[in-house]
Amino acid sequence: MSLPPVIAIDGPTASGKGTVASLVAQQLGFHYLDSGALYRLVALASAKQGVEVKNSTKLGFLVPKLLISFKNGQIFLDGEDVTDAIRTENIGLRASALAIYAEVRSALFDLQHSFRQTPGLVADGRDMASVIFPDAVLKVFLTATAAARAERRYKQLIAKGISARLKDLLQDLQERDARDSSRGTAPLLVADGAKVLEASNLTIDQAVKTVLDWYQSAIA
Ligand code: C5P
Repeated sequence: MSLPPVIAIDGPTASGKGTVASLVAQQLGFHYLDSGALYRLVALASAKQGVEVKNSTKLGFLVPKLLISFKNGQIFLDGEDVTDAIRTENIGLRASALAIYAEVRSALFDLQHSFRQTPGLVADGRDMASVIFPDAVLKVFLTATAAARAERRYKQLIAKGISARLKDLLQDLQERDARDSSRGTAPLLVADGAKVLEASNLTIDQAVKTVLDWYQSAIA
């Protein structure tokens, strides 16, 4: 029996891939995996437990013990709603610092695969197409300029009533891009066979439509 189809959407931070991926999933009635949330959950849990971000062995052991659940757009860790707590810049930076370790990445491997269920999955992250779902029927690399992404993140934070400085956000995301792209394990890259979607000047709807059109062509 063949496995359910996967659409893999990778890209740098704040490119809008989460929004696009979840809307594509909604339109197709597919499941959705926000793999970045898993790294953020490890970041939050390890911070709470006082595990140092450099202690890759302890981090690897911690992952299978986490009780993670996704329900109606909310994310729970050990029964606690952490939907907002994992979205801070600090947790994002910590997630990117611990995501360099093979111990952490391999501990999250099976969990990510468990999201692949009928009728299909849209998965977003950094290595969905290259490492986790290399047999994805459609691979998209969704990107935008650093300035456009910083502005997106700025507006998101302000809308949530969280104060932010555009200059700091730009610096943070450039730091995160550099680390995600240069790490030895599963670096952020345009996977073989991936289509690049430059979304700096696209609305969310236009980006969603492009991915849906590409998917229709891919399965035709
Ligand atoms: O996508 P998001 O910004 O939520 O991801 C947080 C961090 O988790 C990223 O900066 C990246 O370092 C890491 N990550 C990863 N592989 C993924 C998803 C996220 O290394 N598939």
